[in-house]
Amino acid sequence: MVASQVPNLELEKLIKVARQEPGRALEQEFYSAREFHTADMQAVYRKQWLLAGHVSSIPERGQYFLFEIDKESIIIVRENEASVNAFYNVCRHRGSRICLEREGRRKLLTCPYHAWTYSLDGTLKVARLMPEDFKKEEYGLRACHIRLFEGLIFINLSNGTPPDFDEAYRSMLPLAQQQGLATAKIAVKQRYPTRANWKLVAENFMECYHCQSAHPEYCAVHPQDQLLAVGAGPGSGSGEDAAAYQPILDLWEAESAAMGYLNDMIDAGVLSLGMQQAARYPINSDKGFLSETIDGRPACKKLMGDFKQADGGETALAFNPFSYVLASNDFAVMFRWTPQDEMNTDVEVTWLVHEDAEENVDYDPRNVAYVWDTTLKQDKKITEDNQSGVCSESYQPGPYSTQEARNVVFKQWYLDQLESSL
Ligand code: FES
Ligand SMILES: [Fe+2]
Repeated sequence: MVASQVPNLELEKLIKVARQEPGRALEQEFYSAREFHTADMQAVYRKQWLLAGHVSSIPERGQYFLFEIDKESIIIVRENEASVNAFYNVCRHRGSRICLEREGRRKLLTCPYHAWTYSLDGTLKVARLMPEDFKKEEYGLRACHIRLFEGLIFINLSNGTPPDFDEAYRSMLPLAQQQGLATAKIAVKQRYPTRANWKLVAENFMECYHCQSAHPEYCAVHPQDQLLAVGAGPGSGSGEDAAAYQPILDLWEAESAAMGYLNDMIDAGVLSLGMQQAARYPINSDKGFLSETIDGRPACKKLMGDFKQADGGETALAFNPFSYVLASNDFAVMFRWTPQDEMNTDVEVTWLVHEDAEENVDYDPRNVAYVWDTTLKQDKKITEDNQSGVCSESYQPGPYSTQEARNVVFKQWYLDQLESSL
């Protein structure tokens, strides 16, 4: 499909050009051209396991939500207590969308066009007035690869066999389990549709060079030496800054370990499936912050998972450049970026708390969401302004700073993905 739609020669030429300067941002076409967006969808997004949502949003039989990306719409539906299914939202009759609302509850999945009706396992139940030789069993909904990971729903849009989920993410399981993600519930969900190419959204999330100028609240929560060293995850700052921060990290890790908590550090590297990482850091050990809130106090009275007493740590799980979880002891934040076209990316963020936590009793949702909601609104603005400038004829890729080390890795990973699909 790529070969027939994408001018491969042009793509190859641009990959070559981009590789010549690994320490610089990508050329304009990567961020704006329709053809390159098509290539990205095939080479990058369709290959990855994409964080779609959390099981607690569809607890009851028949509850569903749509995962919408580029031209695809996927129905993620609860069939029964044990099973959640994913289907392409495309009727097997003449192709209409079947579910039109972003979320809802259905006993059966009935197409609004001519009322073909599917059960929650995707089999076709009713198709009126079809010829005698019509075989209903041949017209079930097309299934999409789905995988549950500690309550997180991942889907994969590969036509064939998807990459091995366990091989990529098995090592991240203990941290996810400690956080209690499987039994969490949704406290807040928010969308930040961003007029920018997905790579600008992704790159912005991989560096904290912009934190000082763009995020006063985030910088008030985290200490400067941490922002410099690991502001956007392991490897986002320079080696020097990481070394300077290491003694603080070691000290906090010893305190956390004494409470019985696991503190892993995983960095699968540029050759891995999704350049996945997992780590735990203190949020602000200078000020003794216990949570990623504006005053450092937990936003929810009930701590998540194995945490009986707050150690003030933040668990960071990066599954790929568009699927993340960042979690304090008392709440977790799920982030996902889904391209809608070459210059529009849907940013959806979900805050999770302990399943028994009661809204306005144990937590105030505004307090739970405040730091990241504020930060993400700022990110939307700077990323859209970035896109606007990148579209100018005068744009030329400039050099990354020492605070954008992760972007250098991303660029290599991204170009590798594109190249391997040619
Ligand atoms: S397109 Fe769905 S029933 Fe006709
Ligand atoms: Fe930011």
